[in-house]
Amino acid sequence: MDSHRFAARVEHLEPSSIRKMMGIAHRLVQEGKTVYEMNIGQPDIHCHPSFAEGLAAKTATGHICYSPFVGETGLRETFARYLNHHFDNRGVKHLVVEKDNVHVTVGASLALVNTFLAFINPGDEVLCIEPYFQPYVGFLAVAGGVLKTIPTFAEQGFVLPPDQEIESRITPRTRAILFNSPCNPSGRIFTEEEVTRLARLALRHNLYLIGDEVYREMILGDRESFSLLQVQLEPELMERYKNSIIVIDSASKTFSLCGARVGFVVARAPLVEAIARVTAHTVASVSDILQFGVARAYEQILSDPTFVRDLRRTYRERLDAAMDALAEFLPGVVAPRPEGAFYLMIQFPDIPDANEFAMFLLERFNLGGETVAVTPAESFYQTPGRGRNEIRLALVLSPEKIRRSIAIMGEAYKAYKVFQGLQGKASLR
Ligand SMILES: Cc1ncc(COP(=O)(O)O)c(C=O)c1O
Repeated sequence: MDSHRFAARVEHLEPSSIRKMMGIAHRLVQEGKTVYEMNIGQPDIHCHPSFAEGLAAKTATGHICYSPFVGETGLRETFARYLNHHFDNRGVKHLVVEKDNVHVTVGASLALVNTFLAFINPGDEVLCIEPYFQPYVGFLAVAGGVLKTIPTFAEQGFVLPPDQEIESRITPRTRAILFNSPCNPSGRIFTEEEVTRLARLALRHNLYLIGDEVYREMILGDRESFSLLQVQLEPELMERYKNSIIVIDSASKTFSLCGARVGFVVARAPLVEAIARVTAHTVASVSDILQFGVARAYEQILSDPTFVRDLRRTYRERLDAAMDALAEFLPGVVAPRPEGAFYLMIQFPDIPDANEFAMFLLERFNLGGETVAVTPAESFYQTPGRGRNEIRLALVLSPEKIRRSIAIMGEAYKAYKVFQGLQGKASLR
């Protein structure tokens, strides 16, 4: 073949800036540089130990099988129990989830891809709150869908704009609203009022409402997350509401099990069946041994929540270390304290291009042979110009390493301003 002829959809699947930074960071590490990797949400915390037990027990049976395409019954039941327990334990009203409402997928990633494949036709639009988890664009592009955004702003605490503002972005092609709470990257937890408002809006316009709740357990302050499963509407609206919601979850962050690739769709049974049909025709099923491992982890936290409690404490300590270090080493930046997830967005008022700063920091700068990989935030926005002076840090290192990383960034910031000044000057050469 003279030249490659890729399908049009591949054109929309741009390499993510997160992965790009990761590739450069790994090359530099091989060359002997120490790189503090704060660019990807890959926790450094050991996974829940019961995962290995469940995995080993299933492997020892010698029967490694195709799983039902909707997921292992045991895991579906356990996950439903975990969700109900999560809400009951907090004394909050919620929709009761049963096994038939749960579909097991290859991470939240495939849960989202297959949800889009099940409900989105080429050219359809999904409205999403900006800033957003950048891979959503690609997940949707696989189904031929287009991401449109509802901007929110750090200066306003990333609050949901008024209904009229959201409604002005709804077109005849809009099929769904997607939101992520606690939010990666902003750290915002949308309130009961905001989530309920989204629910009413979705019903008014006959849209699906997709809640990405993978950071449900990652609470950094006093306020718990408010799930789509908690929304209370007038009885005459509830039936339609139940038919319109899809909750996405994952074992990746809750148990530090990113590599297990186990995630979930929670919805009414007919929706679950439609999405599982896509799974059946793509990956067939999720690895059975991994599902057994993950089921054991959920069983364990039902009887002993220590792991999740410790996880919250760990991330809170890291966030405190990061906020203190920012005040000390980068006092001029704007960095709202996140309420959940484990990311920190940092705006540099006097840096016009954070992409360039991030590359400078990674490739050109070092302090005693050490530097930091961060994620430029532009790719979390669709609105032109937004995120240009922002970066995102993932709090996936110890408090000491976070402090050291921010100290390095402080020095790099000073050096970068000198570098920028020099670049602006004409050379004699
Ligand atoms: C908001 C959000 N949704 C979904 C995912 C994908 O999670 P998984 O590892 O389960 O595919 C991530 C991963 O970082 C995420 O941050």
